[in-house]
Amino acid sequence: MSGYADGLRSLDAEVRVDDLPLTGTLPEWLRGSLLRTGPARWEVGGRTMNHWFDGFAMLHRFGIAGGGVSYSNRFLESKAYRAAEDEGEIVYSEFATDPCRSLFSRVFSLFDPKISDNANVNLTKLGERFIAMTETPMPVQFDGDTLEAAGVAYEVPGLLTTAHPHLNRASGGMLNYAAKVGPRNSYRFFHLGPDASEPQVVAQMPVKRPGYQHSFGLTEKHFVLAEYPFVVNPVSIPLSGRPYIENYRWEPERGTRFWLLPRDGGEPLGPFETDAWFGFHHINAYEDGGEVVVDICVFEDAGIVEDLYLERLRAGKPIAKPQVRRFRIDPAAGSVGSELLVEQGFDLPRINYGRSNERPYRYAWGVGTGETGWLDSIVKADLERGTTQSWERPGCFPGEPVFVAAPGGAGTKSGAEGGGNGSVATAEDEGVLLSVVLDSEKASSFLLVLDASDLTELARAEAPHHIPFGFHGQFAPA
Ligand code: CO
Repeated sequence: MSGYADGLRSLDAEVRVDDLPLTGTLPEWLRGSLLRTGPARWEVGGRTMNHWFDGFAMLHRFGIAGGGVSYSNRFLESKAYRAAEDEGEIVYSEFATDPCRSLFSRVFSLFDPKISDNANVNLTKLGERFIAMTETPMPVQFDGDTLEAAGVAYEVPGLLTTAHPHLNRASGGMLNYAAKVGPRNSYRFFHLGPDASEPQVVAQMPVKRPGYQHSFGLTEKHFVLAEYPFVVNPVSIPLSGRPYIENYRWEPERGTRFWLLPRDGGEPLGPFETDAWFGFHHINAYEDGGEVVVDICVFEDAGIVEDLYLERLRAGKPIAKPQVRRFRIDPAAGSVGSELLVEQGFDLPRINYGRSNERPYRYAWGVGTGETGWLDSIVKADLERGTTQSWERPGCFPGEPVFVAAPGGAGTKSGAEGGGNGSVATAEDEGVLLSVVLDSEKASSFLLVLDASDLTELARAEAPHHIPFGFHGQFAPA
């Protein structure tokens, strides 16, 4: 077993703890909750699921108030989770695990697909609603305090979607992707207002065989679709006898095709073709004169999906390393250039979203891989200078570093005493990073609070158990 194996061990306990043991000091201004989702149980009945991404979602809440940290966790009561609890077997299809089904039931499932609502990838706050999401059209609303599930949040206008929506600055609503599947397939982007329940499709284009999409880029004018050559013929999925992701084919000769869909619904621009890449996470995108800059954590191929099967991970097999690349699309010339932005690759990227998304920016944070092969350091990248800094500790495996901006005029280091009148501008990297870290020596996890500007440790709060490796979360200010 590898050093990080505890992060892939199921967790049964659901707890509420008012005060976690805390070392260090939290910034006075930091109040609210870090809400995270991620897989936490991979065994059902006598069976183990196949892939890291398959596990049943658990919600975690770190409440930060009055200089202390509370913690609670709870399985997301999705239909998929309830059915597995009640029937003692896997009932819904997950990312890389299917229920055991006869040919008859597979044909039947064409008419009654058991689409999982196991929202273990990400969550968002939309208006006053908290919504957990995965890539199926069944986002689950939940209570941000009790973590209790409250049913399907809204109807996605397509069969596939992403768990990485963007904020629509004008409305406070969200923008997300959907792939409509049927006799004619299409890529769609939709808007959902902060209090709305009906998404509106705002841009779309036809596609024969959709590429796998985990996230997308957004500029002031465009939705940016990076169509990696990892494609599927969706109508074949129900009868293939293979789990969802195993229906995708890697066809590198297609290259990566970028599409720009105007946010005002105008004609799509593209394809703009470049080398074959694969990626999960866009970092940011923006308009730059007549060009469009698109930064993505990419891999040389889609082999990373195979690397993340539990059997391989638990055996400590090598894992592909991400690269941070900048793609520059010149629509007038019809070309795409690309360059490596920093030497130290990372994934699970975060930016100062409120300030930087859709705009030119300088800093990104993420989780880097080192000698362990797994994600084992928190990385700050200065994209202007092409330099990085890291936080790493032996035996520690950090999760996504969520950036929380310091409020204007209340700097983390200085400025608060002198001119705390709200008029002092903060720097782009002024704030904290919140990361859930597995300490493999203790087989337990802690919430790590770093100064985002120089990665110095401000505080850590010890959770009462290990927290299985999850994917994404958000900070909701109090
Ligand atoms: Co993701």
